[in-house]
Amino acid sequence: ENDILGKLPLKGKKILITAGPTYEAIDPVRYIGNHSSGKMGFEIAKAAANNGAEVILITGPTHQSVTHNLINIIPVVNAQHMYDEVHKHYESAHVAILSAAVADFKPKEVATQKIKKKSDTLTLELEKTKDILASLGEIKKHQYLVGFALETTNELENAKGKLKRKNLNLIVLNSLNDKGAGFKTDTNKVTFIDNEEVITKFQLKSKAEVASDLINKIISEIDA
Ligand code: CTP
Ligand code: CA
Repeated sequence: ENDILGKLPLKGKKILITAGPTYEAIDPVRYIGNHSSGKMGFEIAKAAANNGAEVILITGPTHQSVTHNLINIIPVVNAQHMYDEVHKHYESAHVAILSAAVADFKPKEVATQKIKKKSDTLTLELEKTKDILASLGEIKKHQYLVGFALETTNELENAKGKLKRKNLNLIVLNSLNDKGAGFKTDTNKVTFIDNEEVITKFQLKSKAEVASDLINKIISEIDA
């Protein structure tokens, strides 16, 4: 459909995408996770592949599936696995889009046996996970780097802060305040902020449409 001139706009481009939640183990049967469905990342992968890109989709545990000859799925479980896989593929990527809801904290120690309910309270000590997106910003060369920001207060300010701090080209602000936007829904209400401070606000749309807006923005930026 986008092959109007006989050449898809992202042909020859490699796009790295992260999707879904991460699960951080507490003991052999329990984990810390979140409600991310993975839907946004999978839609971005489809939109990129439909425009001819070779896609590496690194995903945490989800119920999503996709079959496309240009999409290579790499399943991971926790933030460290995702970090390792992302770094294997970043060097050769032209674009990286990090939409995963990576856990910010993980248990400092993983119990080797199932924790028993022997006391009335249980305290888990957590430590920060590595910020995958920030780590890519630090070593960025030719890549066009896209992050997401999930905010509930001071949305624009916080998103701009993440864009600068993590050395991104573009950030997609996701408002959890808006009804119909967020983790489990099929729709999203987003704002794009690029590193020239161009701000584009979108209406509530399906995640497939948000994905195609994002891919179109990237096409216009990397062509320019
Ligand atoms: N991200 C990441 N690795 C992490 C945490 C976040 O790659 N360990 C990425 C997300 O995929 C997203 C972006 O960083 O693209 C912003 O995630 P978000 O949770 O909104 O922001 P944080 O930087 O984690 O800060 P906070 O949760 O405190 O707002
Ligand atoms: Ca976070």
